[in-house]
Amino acid sequence: MNFHVMTLFPEMINEGLSASIMGRASERGYISVNAINIRDYSADIKHHKVDDYTYGGGAGMLMQAQPIYDCYKDIEKKIIDSGAKKHRVIYVTPQGSVFNQKMAAELAKESDLVFLCGHYEGVDERVLEEIVTDYVSIGDYVLTGGELPAMVMIDAIARLVPGVLNNDESASTESHSNYLLEYPQYSRPEEWMGKKVPEILLSGDHKKVDEWRLEKAIERTRQRRPDLYEKWILENPPAPPKKKRKKS
Ligand code: ADE
Repeated sequence: MNFHVMTLFPEMINEGLSASIMGRASERGYISVNAINIRDYSADIKHHKVDDYTYGGGAGMLMQAQPIYDCYKDIEKKIIDSGAKKHRVIYVTPQGSVFNQKMAAELAKESDLVFLCGHYEGVDERVLEEIVTDYVSIGDYVLTGGELPAMVMIDAIARLVPGVLNNDESASTESHSNYLLEYPQYSRPEEWMGKKVPEILLSGDHKKVDEWRLEKAIERTRQRRPDLYEKWILENPPAPPKKKRKKS
């Protein structure tokens, strides 16, 4: 999976995604993260300007269409030359659909994803109309730029790409994979600050452990995320009580 990020701050992307699991995944070739500086495509040779005032007035500057478009065309050419048939272009914006695990799983199937990170008061609408396929937000709050949201999405998508996680970092049983939050977990020592690890987890009975974990996951989801619990219960309705047969 190749991530291409159009940004005014490539160092943020490179530093943020080169440590830990993302760094390892890049080194091993499961993903590539290519941060491209939009400023390098400015037609203003002298000052490399990429923003200007907004028509109609209003506070702040707007990112201009031309540098973003030229930057994108360069990326598009590289993707096409590499043999990829299609790619999606994601504009990270608080005006987009809110990102979730389902979207991450869907996007993880793509071979190339292009992210556009906005800054200042936004981006000239015309270039968005021309290049963007998806408008995505990471939540109902406003950040100073699109780099952090792009990194959040890239991390969540990349860890679903086969090979990125080791077996012991498995992505399938964790929170949000099936609407349920993850059950509580414990490591050594068996007792800490007077708190004991639940007996059942020491029993070695895998069936009982699985049942306990499911029960705790359901309980935790109901308490902390009633909205998710509602979705889970719709897909997993409790079995109706068995009717007693009347004797004839
Ligand atoms: N840019 C600024 N705030 C954002 C958000 N919440 N999601 C995506 N991009 C953003």
